[in-house]
Amino acid sequence: MSGNLASKKIILCITGSIAAYKAASLTRLLIKAQAEVRVIMTPSACAFISPLTLSTLSKHDVHTEVSDGNSWNNHVELGLWADAMIIAPCTATTLGKMANGIADTMLVATYLSAKCPVFIAPAMDLDMWIHPSTKANLTKLESYGNGIIPVGNGELASGLTGEGRMAEPEDIVTYLSKKLAANQDLAGKTVIVTAGPTHEALDPVRFIGNRSSGKMGIAIAEECANRGAKVQLILGPSNLNSNHANVTTFNVTSAEDMYQSAIAKFDNCDIAVMAAAVADYTPQTVSDIKIKKKDGDLSIPLKRTKDIAAYLGSIKKNQILIGFALETNDEIFNANRKLQKKNLDFIVLNSLNDKGAGFQHDTNKIRIIKSESDIKVYPLKNKTDVAIDIVDEIAAFQKKK
Ligand code: CTP
Repeated sequence: MSGNLASKKIILCITGSIAAYKAASLTRLLIKAQAEVRVIMTPSACAFISPLTLSTLSKHDVHTEVSDGNSWNNHVELGLWADAMIIAPCTATTLGKMANGIADTMLVATYLSAKCPVFIAPAMDLDMWIHPSTKANLTKLESYGNGIIPVGNGELASGLTGEGRMAEPEDIVTYLSKKLAANQDLAGKTVIVTAGPTHEALDPVRFIGNRSSGKMGIAIAEECANRGAKVQLILGPSNLNSNHANVTTFNVTSAEDMYQSAIAKFDNCDIAVMAAAVADYTPQTVSDIKIKKKDGDLSIPLKRTKDIAAYLGSIKKNQILIGFALETNDEIFNANRKLQKKNLDFIVLNSLNDKGAGFQHDTNKIRIIKSESDIKVYPLKNKTDVAIDIVDEIAAFQKKK
């Protein structure tokens, strides 16, 4: 057997490539690995392999159209049902539609509704595979978090030899098993994550804010969710969000809103990650009307906000509490001081002196500090991989408790 997918619900999507004939043995192998399988085919896939073959093997009707004229196939329900969606084989056309949200097939409509991990096994001729359009679409799909199953190298249907063949069904099942067996080491845990900036209103049109995008905090929330946790994401004003089924987002604006939201959830959580860039000061008063320009300078008196991490550190019982420090100088000294003062279990240090680290980047370079003598240094990575490193440390901490 090439894998174990016991009780995993999988949508297998088949598109119009000659490799579609391999979808029959892929279905059989998925079922042998104990997965529950539902099949979606594009109309052109049906020219390569009969839906009857797939419905017989999967023991369920095959979906080809969103509507068959009389009834409607609920792609949203199917997308929510699945633990994973796999497109094998995936043609260049379907890649392009998925990358650009062109939902003219049941397949792409389901893809856009799916909350589960999506894996793509491309299949096409060498020239199509190496075309910049294909590469751009793959890059886009990877940036959406979809997994690309490496293509094979060998003889192609056109007679050419090279890259572009769909991965073998056995290899696809092994790949999926590894991905889906991914650590569930936070199963049953409740995690709160603060993320993004806060906005402190001056008047109805102006605020004091900062450049945090929320990217790092959202990546941590999603990684905890991938590993089985129920995550409550307390998110300051951000253009980003999470669609993960295990992440519930609470949108907040000011430091005070974030504080109230965090303390309301803290008692019932196991892990709290303070990734937000919270304003330390807020205007003493907020004007009800727009502040008018006058001659001369303007001073606005500010008052301190509540320190969410420090407060949670002072009341924590069994919870693991993680903080962040973004520093420009005396980094280790400052981070260590925050670790102690806020009673954190560890602190993640980013230095603005490291290229590619901090706000507004897709990458980050961190150090994890547990004490002055326990400091782990990590290389520059994209924020999704940094999130994995941070959550690995959280899970290790959790295990020791
Ligand atoms: N933090 C918080 N509430 C605040 C300020 C900070 O929860 N009002 C949290 C941040 O989310 C982060 C940690 O405390 O996890 C450190 O934040 P940082 O801004 O680096 O430190 P400050 O304590 O605000 O100190 P300073 O701005 O002077 O460096």
